[in-house]
Amino acid sequence: MKPGASRGVPPLRIAIAGGGYVGLVTAAGLATLGHRITVAEAQEDRVHDLRAGRLPIREPGLGALWDRAMERGLAVTAPGEQAYAEAQLIIICVGTPPRDDWTQDLASLEGAARDIGSALAHSHQYSVVAVKSTVLPGTTQGPIRSAVEKASGRRAGGDFGLASVPEFLAEGNAVEDFLNPKRIVVGGLDDASTKMVLAAHEGLPGPRVVTDIPTAEMIKYVSNAFLAARVSLSNEIGNICKALGIDARRVLEAVGMDDRIGPKFLRSGVGFGGSCFAKDVRALAVRADTLALGSQMLRATLQVNEEQPRRLVELLRGRLDSLSGRRIALLGLAFKPGTDDVRESRGLAVARLLVQAGARVVAYDPMAIPNARRVAQDLEYVGTSAAALEGADACVIATEWPEFAHLGREFKAMRRGLVVDGRGALDPRDLNIEYEGLCW
Ligand code: UDX
Repeated sequence: MKPGASRGVPPLRIAIAGGGYVGLVTAAGLATLGHRITVAEAQEDRVHDLRAGRLPIREPGLGALWDRAMERGLAVTAPGEQAYAEAQLIIICVGTPPRDDWTQDLASLEGAARDIGSALAHSHQYSVVAVKSTVLPGTTQGPIRSAVEKASGRRAGGDFGLASVPEFLAEGNAVEDFLNPKRIVVGGLDDASTKMVLAAHEGLPGPRVVTDIPTAEMIKYVSNAFLAARVSLSNEIGNICKALGIDARRVLEAVGMDDRIGPKFLRSGVGFGGSCFAKDVRALAVRADTLALGSQMLRATLQVNEEQPRRLVELLRGRLDSLSGRRIALLGLAFKPGTDDVRESRGLAVARLLVQAGARVVAYDPMAIPNARRVAQDLEYVGTSAAALEGADACVIATEWPEFAHLGREFKAMRRGLVVDGRGALDPRDLNIEYEGLCW
């Protein structure tokens, strides 16, 4: 899209608080719409890298979008009052990491809110503060609003605007998700806040959902809870199918043809990983507890997900008698194909269980080894599938990287050609291996 093409409003001055995954995609995407963007990022070396066009994340299409945004004047700066002084719209995209008790750590968010408040204290223009970070309902109108009001000495609603504009970006598809959203959800404190956020997104396709702030915050959690629950239900169904000698994939494919159900997020296997599903479902479950409501479905979603790697390891133990001293080739460490992200990776969950059982795990992943190495030092890492399979007593597939589907003669180098597939990554026909699927 050309700058400002098909937009009826003049470009806005927009500041993005946080140059992480969500902040960078949002900044580059909004720049494509013709807006003047400043990104405020706390890590000095990252500011330096971003200015030089070096992105800290891999995301298809983001590099090209970023370069064009820089040509159009996108600026990267340290956070603080100055970063937000000129902005008409400030979008907070900082992280909300979980604490040990699954509650959210809001320190970065409140820090950004204070900086923004200090900027608003000296500003003569009307600005809107919008929260894109995933926060539980009540957070934007509670601690965030208070922090901005306190630091600015101004009042939300009259003196500045407040909104929630949750993100629905899936890793590996984030640029596409931004440019072609399924819906844009805007929760505004008042009309002026909502209008500003809508104006920033003018030019993007898709329906707009205009609502209040807590509803917008909740939509994000419920979207992730539904998707995660579908995966866990598919996995539970998959376990039952397996015990009955039925291929769960055929069952779920047919079930998904019913348009009341739909075909997506019905792939059974070793479970979901990633930065959002487990974190958000846990946070919502804990919130339900604090409301004395209980959360059976949310907790079951998490329990089934924790159980799948254990099932896979038990299947392997059953085939090998004992895991102690066995050499296991682990193919796949990323939480899904197309990313180097290992957060909540099911492959690493399997690896931990195998190591606990005394196995020697030799792991390969096309992208995620550097990140895996940082969190799992007790695995051996190798540069190819073939090297992992060489002399292995068994192989586990934990991520459905397309290259695994082409493996063939590499299995011949195994001591015993036993493959336990947690993702349906392999078609075992014509392969001379002992194949065992987790749910089929
Ligand atoms: C998800 C949401 O899709 C996105 O909208 C939200 O903003 C963040 O969380 P992401 O974590 O990037 O995005 O990955 P996604 O593609 O949704 O997959 C999540 C996990 O579920 C992966 O580990 C994937 O392997 C697993 N999954 C997905 C299944 O096991 N079965 C399925 O049918 C679908």
